[in-house]
Amino acid sequence: MEKIIIAGGTSGIGLATAKLLADKGASVTVTGRSEEKLAAARTAAPGITAVSLDSANVTALKEFFTRNGQFHHLILTLSSAKGGGPFATLDLEDLRAGFEGKFWPHLQTIQAALPWLDKNGSITIITAASSTAKLPGTAGLAAINGALELMVPILAKELKPLRINAVSPGVIDTDWWNFLNKEEKSAAFENYAQGIAVGRIGNPQDVSNLIETVVHNSYINGTVLNVNGGLL
Ligand SMILES: NC(=O)c1ccc[n+]([C@@H]2O[C@H](COP(=O)([O-])OP(=O)(O)OC[C@H]3O[C@@H](n4cnc5c(N)ncnc54)[C@H](OP(=O)(O)O)[C@@H]3O)[C@@H](O)[C@H]2O)c1
Repeated sequence: MEKIIIAGGTSGIGLATAKLLADKGASVTVTGRSEEKLAAARTAAPGITAVSLDSANVTALKEFFTRNGQFHHLILTLSSAKGGGPFATLDLEDLRAGFEGKFWPHLQTIQAALPWLDKNGSITIITAASSTAKLPGTAGLAAINGALELMVPILAKELKPLRINAVSPGVIDTDWWNFLNKEEKSAAFENYAQGIAVGRIGNPQDVSNLIETVVHNSYINGTVLNVNGGLL
């Protein structure tokens, strides 16, 4: 049976992907920090295994992957939602926390997983449209996600035949936006929807469908695939 690990898979895009892949017959393990989210994930998707693990903790990562053993596909959906805002007033400590919350945990998780990944398997990271959208207020987010995207084609060459790709979503309705209150969130979504060709913001399934394709299509490699409804 195909074994898949989703780092940061206890909510949003990661959890939707876990459900989809488990429905297709894979053995899926998701990781996350919050016990509450782990419990909610177990309830929402009883077929998956949910393990408490902080991808910022290298020792814990190495122990986890050693315990888990060989597996086929690694998907990373970790994020901190920090580092956004106009550059002139951007708190650089917030941007630093953004790198600590996304960039470094991605690299640490991938390095710890590599000895255990099937050479014919894959790594899929989830970056963000901010890396290319050139939207004011997203310079910091673009730096975090752009840095990850730039590594993808190089790692594809270094790690071959193991594949590595990035899936780059636009605005997706998940807990990522919970730094806004309910009213702010719906106002922001309404505003963003006007700049999206399909006229709506995305849902986690819009992204998980593409992730599933990237994981299983053995001819997609070293690339960044957009799923953003046509950002204008
Ligand atoms: N939603 C959007 O509009 C959007 C747009 C573009 C890109 N993205 C990207 O898509 C990815 C998934 O985001 P999402 O929208 O699905 O957000 P989400 O619902 O907040 O999911 C993030 C997941 O990562 C986990 N996580 C965060 N830090 C972790 C750590 N150090 N160790 C282990 N787990 C960790 C969270 O659980 P715990 O907090 O409990 O650990 C949660 O399960 C992120 O990389 C995000 O940047 C999202």
